[in-house]
Amino acid sequence: MADQHKKLAWITGGGTGIGEALALALDRQGWQVVISGRTEQKLQAVVAKSQQITYLTLDVTDREQSQQVFNTLCDTYGLPDLVVLNAGDYTPMPLEAFNLDLIYKLNQVNYLGVMNGLAPVLPAMQARGSGQVLLMSSVAGYRGLPDAAPYGASKAALINFAEALYMPLKQQGVMLRIVNPGFVTTQLTAQNSFKMPAEITPIQAADRIMDALDSTSFEITFPKRFTYILKMLRCLPYRLYFFLISKITDK
Ligand SMILES: NC(=O)c1ccc[n+]([C@@H]2O[C@H](COP(=O)([O-])OP(=O)(O)OC[C@H]3O[C@@H](n4cnc5c(N)ncnc54)[C@H](OP(=O)(O)O)[C@@H]3O)[C@@H](O)[C@H]2O)c1
Repeated sequence: MADQHKKLAWITGGGTGIGEALALALDRQGWQVVISGRTEQKLQAVVAKSQQITYLTLDVTDREQSQQVFNTLCDTYGLPDLVVLNAGDYTPMPLEAFNLDLIYKLNQVNYLGVMNGLAPVLPAMQARGSGQVLLMSSVAGYRGLPDAAPYGASKAALINFAEALYMPLKQQGVMLRIVNPGFVTTQLTAQNSFKMPAEITPIQAADRIMDALDSTSFEITFPKRFTYILKMLRCLPYRLYFFLISKITDK
């Protein structure tokens, strides 16, 4: 039976990395947290570290399953106060390894997988007139980066989508916000062969998100010493941007 006094959060991709750290941080602060992901053992391992996290397995690329899991969650615990659509995937794609399957895969998880979660969540929150939804994007979505075209494009789509709906949803009491982290040490970034500037831990990332939960700003980005430089690059005219990014990445 749900405890009506506890705040309720649903986090996709909550079995590892940033999602796990955020789930545990919310759990420590007394939230009821439900995590989802494809791999039951990873979800169970997080539950074992927690006070009272529970899980519902989900492949976010499955549209019907996303609806069913959300229905089960609402029937069991109620409508969440906070939904973090965090499940994501990353594989670099240098030009010489152009791969249409990879482009489809990353879009299905990172963009359409988030849409599959958003579709049942938004109308329920709109009907209630409250709620907060965080879409886990990335600074890789700010501008095109060599080797990250399919990943960056899927994350740019999230930023654009959330920008479009932020104001109309806010007027209905629903906060649709974007999270744009820099580099965080997780299994996703373990495949990067370069030195990642301003890299932080998942616990640090979760702390930054926790600090921002009471704000109504559109974007949550960290660590600012790195992400603000990328923000400035975003403002540059194309000619200057391409010149600088080519120098920085040697591509
Ligand atoms: N690490 C960084 O530097 C960084 C920077 C910017 C943004 N991000 C974003 O942060 C989010 C979390 O990434 P992370 O770095 O914490 O990596 P991670 O530890 O690999 O977390 C990704 C999670 O997503 C889940 N997932 C993947 N595909 C899924 C699917 N089809 N259905 C359901 N769950 C799925 C994975 O669990 P299963 O495999 O068990 O399903 C995993 O727990 C991602 O959206 C990523 O793009 C990360």
